[in-house]
Amino acid sequence: MNILYVGDIMGEAGIDTITTLLPGIKKDKAVDLVIAQAENVSGGKGVTPDDFNRLQAAGVDFCTGGNWTMHQQSIFALLSDPDEPIIRPANYPADTPGLGYKYIGTPQGDVLVISLLGQIVGRDADKPTDNPLHVVDKILEEEKDVARAATIVNFHGDFSSEKRVIGYYLDGRVTAIIGDHWHVPTADAMVLPKGTAHQTDVGMCGSLHSSLGVKLESVIPRWRDGRQTVNQLEQGGTLQFNALLITLDPATGLATGCERIQQYID
Ligand SMILES: [Fe+2]
Repeated sequence: MNILYVGDIMGEAGIDTITTLLPGIKKDKAVDLVIAQAENVSGGKGVTPDDFNRLQAAGVDFCTGGNWTMHQQSIFALLSDPDEPIIRPANYPADTPGLGYKYIGTPQGDVLVISLLGQIVGRDADKPTDNPLHVVDKILEEEKDVARAATIVNFHGDFSSEKRVIGYYLDGRVTAIIGDHWHVPTADAMVLPKGTAHQTDVGMCGSLHSSLGVKLESVIPRWRDGRQTVNQLEQGGTLQFNALLITLDPATGLATGCERIQQYID
């Protein structure tokens, strides 16, 4: 079974990228399920129901969440519906709208998808989060008797130490744990010793020559001269696509291989 995890889809450039490339990649790699990080889809801040529908039309089956997911209140009803394939981080406080893990059906069996937020995410210091290790332990314990083909965990965080350590913490207990949020892919995709696929950061989909998808003209003056500028998303130029392809055995729920997928559109 092949599961493709697609990195942060950043604004319209990100939607253009996956709309153009995803159908071919799904065919070439015999992809059974596409999971994508959707927290930056709608102008970089969350994802609206309309844009969620556009991702589904482009071939995305399930959307994970990050520190921007709760920015769009219009998505809350879908986050709360167990049958809608979109989640927010699972380690927000208990009364936060939405669900942090859900199942999605595939011909090979159900797949459990969990999103977690790192505890050190720069701009999110005002939002309290529970310890992601405790939260994922609790979810895996509660779901231990539910038959499934795979368990995919997304860890949206800033610190490389957190992002690496949780890989080893979950090794042998889940199919894959994939980091995102940096928008820069790391070259460490591997299957860990006990059978869990891991990558510190999968990277992003959208404008390549930009500040992580944001126009350089709106970032550099702020840094160089201390000017107050508003982030504007870069829409044009070369587009980048970054994802991790995970191959697994549905009988064991463990990974047998993983491969970085990196493509460009000039
Ligand atoms: Fe993020």
